[in-house]
Amino acid sequence: MRSGLSAVACALWFYRLRGSSMCGIVGYTGYREAEPILRDGLKRLEYRGYDSAGLATVTGSGLCLRKSVGKIADLADVLQRQPAPGTSGISHTRWATHGEATLANAHPHLGGDGEVAVVHNGVIENHAELRSQLQADGFTFRSQTDSEVIAHLIAKYLDGDPVEAVRRAVSRLRGTYGLAMISPRFPGVLVGARLGSPLVVGLGSNENYLSSDASALRGYTEDVVYLLDRQLCVLTPNSGNVLSVELAPAEPVVHRLNWDMEDASRGEYEHFMLKEICEQPEVIDRAMAGRLDEVDSTAHFGNLSLDPQKLNQIDRVIMTACGTSYHAALIGEYLIESLARLPVEVEYASEFRYRNPPLDRKSIVLAISQSGETADTLAALRESKRKGLPTLALCNVVGSSIAREADCTIYLHAGPEVGVASTKAFTAQVTVLTLLALHLGRLRNLSASAGTRILDELQQMPDLVRQTLDCHDEVKRIARKYHHVSNVLYMGRQYLFPVALEGALKLKEISYIHAEGYPAAEMKHGPIALVDEDTPSVFLVPQCPSYDKTMSNLEEVKARGGPVIAVACPEDERIAGRADDVILIPRVAEHWQPLVAVVPLQLLAYEIALLRGCDIDKPRNLAKSVTVE
Ligand code: G6P
Repeated sequence: MRSGLSAVACALWFYRLRGSSMCGIVGYTGYREAEPILRDGLKRLEYRGYDSAGLATVTGSGLCLRKSVGKIADLADVLQRQPAPGTSGISHTRWATHGEATLANAHPHLGGDGEVAVVHNGVIENHAELRSQLQADGFTFRSQTDSEVIAHLIAKYLDGDPVEAVRRAVSRLRGTYGLAMISPRFPGVLVGARLGSPLVVGLGSNENYLSSDASALRGYTEDVVYLLDRQLCVLTPNSGNVLSVELAPAEPVVHRLNWDMEDASRGEYEHFMLKEICEQPEVIDRAMAGRLDEVDSTAHFGNLSLDPQKLNQIDRVIMTACGTSYHAALIGEYLIESLARLPVEVEYASEFRYRNPPLDRKSIVLAISQSGETADTLAALRESKRKGLPTLALCNVVGSSIAREADCTIYLHAGPEVGVASTKAFTAQVTVLTLLALHLGRLRNLSASAGTRILDELQQMPDLVRQTLDCHDEVKRIARKYHHVSNVLYMGRQYLFPVALEGALKLKEISYIHAEGYPAAEMKHGPIALVDEDTPSVFLVPQCPSYDKTMSNLEEVKARGGPVIAVACPEDERIAGRADDVILIPRVAEHWQPLVAVVPLQLLAYEIALLRGCDIDKPRNLAKSVTVE
């Protein structure tokens, strides 16, 4: 790092992290116009939140502030009418936590009479108290947000040194923040601070960047520094300094990122979600690459620093995750219990972190997260570490908080997932969990011949998933038939029960149709009361040991007049006569079924959402990376 502004004294903050709001931040200081760079970065971060957006630049005559309610495209319209000149600036895309999605609540927020502009991700718990104090000091509040207190606090402390002002301001905050500020009194200077909400510095030549997520910097720089909690950074066009809380300049580690420009664009596809569904064969290939060991009939992970002896002593695996990652974990439970004969528990991270379950030192905690930033999963990981348990993370985003904080991390290599509804990350998670189950199995009782068979079968999966994608036309036809319904049930057994949950989640997320997944046999214990001619049930009935049982459940639905969409194998001669609609998937051994069976369910959700005119890549009320608890 090059030298920059002087280090300043920082107070110590002792409080518990509680999560942070899920917004995106991009900052720039350099020799180019800031606005297009900020806008471009925000566009890439839009998946983090998209109810309002704004930016502020420093011009020769002061601050230039532009905001809009809605998506980045709306902000771009505003900027077309009213450009924001200047070579330094900060910007933000918001997912509301405090205060509705209004223009006043959109970031940046101005402090004092416009002495500073601030963008903030996080939740300030003592905002009410600070607001009253600042109002008593004569500061006027223009929004309902908790973030505005930060802007006024910085303005209050702004004297000769903006870093000192930020330091003093954050020392008053209780809660979480990733923030950036600029001031017309210090043109070209950008100050950032992090506690519990990610910030990354991008290093350029005569220009520097700041962002809440490295993906916003794609195409601008490859060299990044991840700020740690309780660190500040000070950027000018020619310098980037990271300061520790104890005053001293920190010794930041510069990471070189390897961008794949292709991956982040939609290419020929109408939506990222469809592109990501179609990429799944290659995703399985990438997740396996370099990890298959044909000599020892096992899988290896380059960076699995837990030594085999320790792994052998483990007598329980606890997996924790949220959303789609939780469903992948449920499949991991079946896989690890079957291949490694190790007891596995899977728990929602939000429950696990507060439940205080009895844990013994022979357990390992697996945190599974596409983004690596999900607040509950991160907190569950930290809680496990605090209790002295070994931790392992499965993450897609390189350098994310969970990936950095776990004892060791296995990356999914799925490439950037942009669609808010997760698809290819799920497939990569299931693939990596299969490899992990194989690895653990081979350390225990799984025979070499069984290991070899699994490796052989696994290598056929990319092609089988490619073949599965051929069901797309049939899925389109079925979507046209059912896109008007209000409820859909999804049924599967064993390995396909979590897939039923995932299929229902996909439909809910992007089409806003109410959908629930159940173990097929649970139907009789309640859900069957919902069955009528307007409530289709999706049955996952490929050839497997529980085929006959699942078919009986299917008959129970038919007997009550419920339409049935079956996902079955071409070899199945019974199904055409029993189900109203059939989607064919290749026949595979039971433990591979999730990888093929999930594909038609993803496509069905996609096609139904398309027919209903929904915003598929950015469904309402959701965000890709949930950094609030
Ligand atoms: C959000 C996303 C989901 C995702 C979940 C967990 O809710 O919308 O698609 O499954 O977070 O995210 P993670 O990044 O931890 O896998």
